[in-house]
Amino acid sequence: MSFAIHPVTKEDEEEWTRLFKLYLVFYKATVSDEIIKSTFQRALDPEIKLWAALAFSNETQKPIGLVNYFSHIQTWDIKDKILLNDLYVDEDARVKGVGRGLIEYVYNHADELGTPEVYWNTDKTNHRAQLLYTKVGVEKGKNSYKRPL
Ligand code: ACO
Repeated sequence: MSFAIHPVTKEDEEEWTRLFKLYLVFYKATVSDEIIKSTFQRALDPEIKLWAALAFSNETQKPIGLVNYFSHIQTWDIKDKILLNDLYVDEDARVKGVGRGLIEYVYNHADELGTPEVYWNTDKTNHRAQLLYTKVGVEKGKNSYKRPL
């Protein structure tokens, strides 16, 4: 499949929101419209180190995939590192290289920023995503914990 990846612009809000909501459905997560709107605005704000990009089909010119990622400070290096937080590809566009393209887009942007470290997390049960992740990354061998609120 032929596609092109671009950072979001304000004109992309409707399609970015469509894809982000499908991603949240995949995770059975409830996020308010207010927060979704705020996340999109943050991705547009050049002062905030959070970015979003969309993959557009070259046939239809429609968005078919999304990636959201942000940069944060760390204690083991002066340089920031990047957390690739959200990745989603429309069901009928999957297994055609779009997910890989979105990850590689983040790698390229991370290099341009001079902060090449990129990492992400996924559910142990998300075998489909891991089929891709083992090809573009290395498994960190860590378990994740969170405060039980
Ligand atoms: N058998 C063998 N290999 C497979 C199979 C299969 N059934 N399915 C996929 N693959 C391989 C493909 O060969 C391909 O590898 P290649 O690039 O070497 O050819 C790879 O897995 C799939 O790569 P893409 O086509 O680039 O990925 P896709 O566009 O399908 O997107 C994604 C993958 C994002 C995980 C998609 O399935 C999706 O949106 N799933 C629902 C949401 C989700 O799980 N998101 C990720 C959560 S983790 C996070 O957000 C950080």
